[in-house]
Amino acid sequence: MHELIEKGTPWTLKEVGTDPEVIKQNETLFSLSNGHIGTRGSLEETHLTPEFSHSKSTLMNGFFDTEPITYGEWAYGYATHHQTTIPIPDGKKMEMKYDGEVFDLTSSDAKDHNRTLDLKKGILTRSYSWKTENGHELEVSIERFVSYDYPEIMAQRFILTPKDDNNSLEVSFELDDLKSMGKERDKEDDPDPRKKEQASRRFESDDLEFYDADMLHIKTHASGLHAVVGNRVVTDNDVHQQISDKNRDSLSFYSKANQTIVIDRFVAYSELYKEESLTENIIDNLIRTLKNVTESGYEKVKAEHISTMESFWEHSDIQIDGEPALQLGLRFNLFHLHQAAGRDGKTNMSAKGLTGEGYEGHYFWDTEMYMFPFFLYTQPEIARSLLMYRYSILPQAKERARTMAIANGALFAWRTINGEEASPYYPAGTAQIHINADIAHAIYSYGEVTGDDAFMLNEGLEMLVETARFWLEWGHFDDNRGGAFVINDVTGPDEYTAIVNNNYYTNLMAKKNLAYAIEWIEKRRRQLPDEDFNVSQDELTEWKKAEEHMYLPYDEDKQLTMQDDSFFHKKVWDFEQTPKENYPLLLNYHPLTIYKHQVCKQADTVLAQFLFLDDFSKEQKKRDFDYYEKVTTHDSSLSRSVFGMMASQIGEEKKAYDYFMDTALMDISDLQSNTKDGVHAANMGGTWMSMVQGFAGLRVDKGTLHFSPQCPSEWERIVFKVRFQKRLIQVSMTPSSTDYQLVEGDQLTIIENGEKKTL
Ligand code: BGC
Repeated sequence: MHELIEKGTPWTLKEVGTDPEVIKQNETLFSLSNGHIGTRGSLEETHLTPEFSHSKSTLMNGFFDTEPITYGEWAYGYATHHQTTIPIPDGKKMEMKYDGEVFDLTSSDAKDHNRTLDLKKGILTRSYSWKTENGHELEVSIERFVSYDYPEIMAQRFILTPKDDNNSLEVSFELDDLKSMGKERDKEDDPDPRKKEQASRRFESDDLEFYDADMLHIKTHASGLHAVVGNRVVTDNDVHQQISDKNRDSLSFYSKANQTIVIDRFVAYSELYKEESLTENIIDNLIRTLKNVTESGYEKVKAEHISTMESFWEHSDIQIDGEPALQLGLRFNLFHLHQAAGRDGKTNMSAKGLTGEGYEGHYFWDTEMYMFPFFLYTQPEIARSLLMYRYSILPQAKERARTMAIANGALFAWRTINGEEASPYYPAGTAQIHINADIAHAIYSYGEVTGDDAFMLNEGLEMLVETARFWLEWGHFDDNRGGAFVINDVTGPDEYTAIVNNNYYTNLMAKKNLAYAIEWIEKRRRQLPDEDFNVSQDELTEWKKAEEHMYLPYDEDKQLTMQDDSFFHKKVWDFEQTPKENYPLLLNYHPLTIYKHQVCKQADTVLAQFLFLDDFSKEQKKRDFDYYEKVTTHDSSLSRSVFGMMASQIGEEKKAYDYFMDTALMDISDLQSNTKDGVHAANMGGTWMSMVQGFAGLRVDKGTLHFSPQCPSEWERIVFKVRFQKRLIQVSMTPSSTDYQLVEGDQLTIIENGEKKTL
């Protein structure tokens, strides 16, 4: 069992000791965020001991800089600019000098050093006892949290108890040395494309401007973004001397044996904004926020934070009896998922949340296909904000479609922050046009689960229409295939197979996208017969024709669903001769070497089947699962959860369980060996999906909620809640029975394994 779990409780992860490698590894895991700001779990004195840190960054959702992409060989329509999230001034830094000595974990004598992440409360604590060379002791305890109630605020409390009289204690706080931002980060010359940082990451002096009252205005070089950072330090103890410079607060005390000194610090990060002229206003607002929190006091702000966290858990927890390690792993994933989501309709969820700079902070299809279901069924208002973000970038998506020579409709960027395509490698980037249908799928599910017609008939429908339009022009009716609608030259979810014709997943999702648009246009026409939505009858007829005639590749001889037209014509990858250290393949083989083989990075056809279980017979699903499992490396963290859920569907209980354990503990056990760059947020969403949509078999069909529970025999009981059409339902599953309770809302009929049940 992993040490963090072993030492923890069902709600806490505990790290004990001072091993730099362990502390470094936990820097990602101990990250705290609230969807607006996120700060990695680094030590307060990391600037003195960089060997304990991979990157101590604090990140703001949506704060990025751009830089032109330089191509060795350019072609029309390539993405033009990198977008790279850049760390903002880090407010965790603290330096402590006691009895003439400066504390750091390498040279100081620290005992009982430990850190605990309390998932229930959303608080990271650290404590140790420090003995100076003169033998004088100081007990130290530090708390940190990022508030959900005040999204701008990161709060810290320092509790220092000297054991002797009359020693001088100096505690200094600083916004991280701004000009060296990024410099202290591990700068290995690492070609790994999953982490590569492209745009300039540093602020320069004229990007930083101090105003009165510790207010720092920061701006990016090229992307035109601004934010303000403020800082307040408060103590009720007798301060011998306090020196406050703009960037630094230094407090000195004289020790009294066993008399505790408490210092609170609030660091405030404004919203990000685009017009410099707003700065004064933003500063005023931030000063007000800082005043509010300092007047309320640390205890009260903390109590509010804990109560917000508790109400989150009240609705979103998954309780699992009989497996303490899994319980903790599961909660850890839900905790980070919750932390990652932008909540303002202008930002989204990056592949790493706000826990690291991997993938440059970009938003991918990960959001809609992996993270979204958790929010949809537990906090639908956040699900709506995530969709509103997509709506906010619809103009850029239309523009992108024009660049791709598509006259009507929209193509969402494969990876982006500001809505523009940021993938410089189009075979595994822009070619993944399935993102359009992924977004449409999330929109449609949102409508089914929430009944929010106001959204669906307006913003939702507009996106369904624009994405549907795109398909009609990208694909065509192919006479050589009896007039079937084909979609050529795309890349499906599996990034080890690129630029193919008729990727099954893409075609099926496009078919659904068309069906969703048709259904909602017709609904709107019924509800608002006098209002035109700018879709002609001819256009609708064409969509219906494409939807009906969508080509879905199938191999009749093999009785297998084909991942795409050419997949079975390729040679199967020689797995036996591939040494372990050559995985992930993407770091060890040229893309073409990979593409010409039958080898999958992740679930593709199997994912399509998981999403539309009823479209396939059990035998078909089993045949396809068996086939594709053999050629899948799971080099992508998005793979295992899907294979696990399908294993459960086809009755492969042992496999389902094993895949699920890997999924649930992926980051804690660093299964992909790159957790240092940030958590795998999509996989965390996959964990929730595995439990609720996998083992409990939740799905919605024609507006009705279905369950097909299969609780593994290893578990005593699983309890979770879901929201569905203004109801709150609690589900308790054991290996032998399942109980459904209506906690809130009107009577509801659900279907369990084909049988109606009224709650
Ligand atoms: C996966 C993609 C995913 C991206 C970001 C890649 O490794 O293949 O499916 O969107 O990571 O998580």
